[in-house]
Amino acid sequence: MVKITTICCIGAGYVGGPTMAMIALKCPHIKVTVVDISQPRIDAWNSDELPIYEPGLDEVVKACRGKNLFFSTDVAGAIRESQMIFVSVNTPTKKTGLGSGKAADLTYWESAARTIAAESKDNKIIVEKSTVPVRTAEAIEKVLKRNCSDASVQFDILSNPEFLAEGTAISDLTAPDRVLIGGKIENEAGQAAVDALAEVYANWVPKNQIITANLWSAELSKLAANAFLAQRISSINAMSALCEATGADVAQVAHSIGTDSRIGPKFLNASVGFGGSCFQKDILNLAYICECHGLKEVADYWYSVVGMNDYQKSRFVRRVVSAMFNTIRNKKIAMLGFAFKKDTGDTRETPAIDVGKGLIEDGAQLAIYDPQVKEDQIAYDMEGMMGNITCYKTAKEALQDAHAVTIMTEWDEFKSYDWKEIYDVMQKPAFVFDGRLILDHDHLREIGFIVYALGKPIDPFIKSAEGA
Ligand code: UDX
Ligand code: UDX
Ligand code: ADP
Repeated sequence: MVKITTICCIGAGYVGGPTMAMIALKCPHIKVTVVDISQPRIDAWNSDELPIYEPGLDEVVKACRGKNLFFSTDVAGAIRESQMIFVSVNTPTKKTGLGSGKAADLTYWESAARTIAAESKDNKIIVEKSTVPVRTAEAIEKVLKRNCSDASVQFDILSNPEFLAEGTAISDLTAPDRVLIGGKIENEAGQAAVDALAEVYANWVPKNQIITANLWSAELSKLAANAFLAQRISSINAMSALCEATGADVAQVAHSIGTDSRIGPKFLNASVGFGGSCFQKDILNLAYICECHGLKEVADYWYSVVGMNDYQKSRFVRRVVSAMFNTIRNKKIAMLGFAFKKDTGDTRETPAIDVGKGLIEDGAQLAIYDPQVKEDQIAYDMEGMMGNITCYKTAKEALQDAHAVTIMTEWDEFKSYDWKEIYDVMQKPAFVFDGRLILDHDHLREIGFIVYALGKPIDPFIKSAEGA
């Protein structure tokens, strides 16, 4: 088994950056180089303002950068000097062509593979880090073998899916539930490559938490894990609609079922919908793979998880409109939070986009405040709608004279606001629509707010406004 002392990672994004920083921190004997084709991204990684916001990441990067952690645009040079190459490029959903809207677009992956083939002069272990369709490794192996001028160069391909979640990346990387390594364990070279990578992780992860599997199982496990997690959220969100209709409380239901050890308490928070770059993309990708294998019923099962998520977002919009006497035209509606979850500035697939669009279609004037999302990102996400949107640097300004406030992200700071002060500066009746169930609803009602809390019994005021 080769002892790894040089690693590079192609793609300095949300996954590649933090993962490599952690490897560098835990393995001072390994030189880790993270490369990207984007010069601004690499410049940011080399600056005091990292390109992504992630609690604890600054400290890890500062501890290693310039010692055994390097960020560079010299992709070819890094490939040549590294024994092990992680590929962590983006794999978005295809926008056009066969499988459009469902399949993963592997353009960036293939281009990375071609560069690896062209630059490799000695044996390399290639590690799939990006989430990819099952059997991508097989395709990539072909690209590598057919494009490498030196036939003696051996490529061993591993799948090492990343399970970190944004906002908790550093703690997830420090103490992962498990590390999964897929490889051709049926042959000696494949097993040796798996062992080499396991050895890297063993510097800080207990050996019994390093799981090995065959390549396809590892690739599929990543899609399955995200599909199961998203399905839990859609299940509790489906319950939230039923709770509202019947007067039950979704938080009580979640607590009650979560104490069953077979179900477990995590990931049962009802919400305005799941977002993020992975869940929807991976489910669509999984369902597409099922379709390609003629498994229509299986594909439909997974599509319904995405369908429920869309329903939850549009249901929220309908509730806002109906509670506010069926008109929100020209009303200032404050949106607190725009990121897809707290402790990140990431807005990919955030429910705030669809809810915001829905509210604007009904004529609302949105006042958006998010502690981490910048105005130019919101302008990008809400293209063509900025005439109805004002972004604010403080929540106070966003809330001044607003008719309603919608909670889109569960940022902790929203809980500590002085809601009495907020009530005093808002239009009356003042509405709160809590899409994340983070506020103290009894306290808000005592102040005078009309409160809609997702999945909780509906306020009499809202019931009568809706003519129920
Ligand atoms: C997810 C997976 O958790 C991670 O393992 C994988 O590597 C990448 O995809 P991430 O998208 O970063 O991570 O965040 P996650 O914490 O899973 O949240 C995804 C979405 O679900 C967020 O919009 C979040 O607000 C929502 N969510 C999560 C809920 O609505 N309710 C919950 O109980 C949990
Ligand atoms: C179930 C609930 O578990 C119990 O809490 C409730 O009070 C009554 O309903 P039961 O129907 O007796 O209990 O058995 P359970 O062990 O839940 O199994 C139900 C079915 O699911 C069985 O056919 C079982 O074979 C199947 N099953 C269970 C699986 O196919 N896979 C599993 O992983 C678990
Ligand atoms: P993820 O969330 O999977 O980490 P990101 O989009 O945050 O995805 O990051 C992927 C990174 O990969 C981007 O910074 C992009 O510039 C980079 N990238 C894409 N293709 C290549 C390539 N062929 N060579 C080097 N970097 C690439």
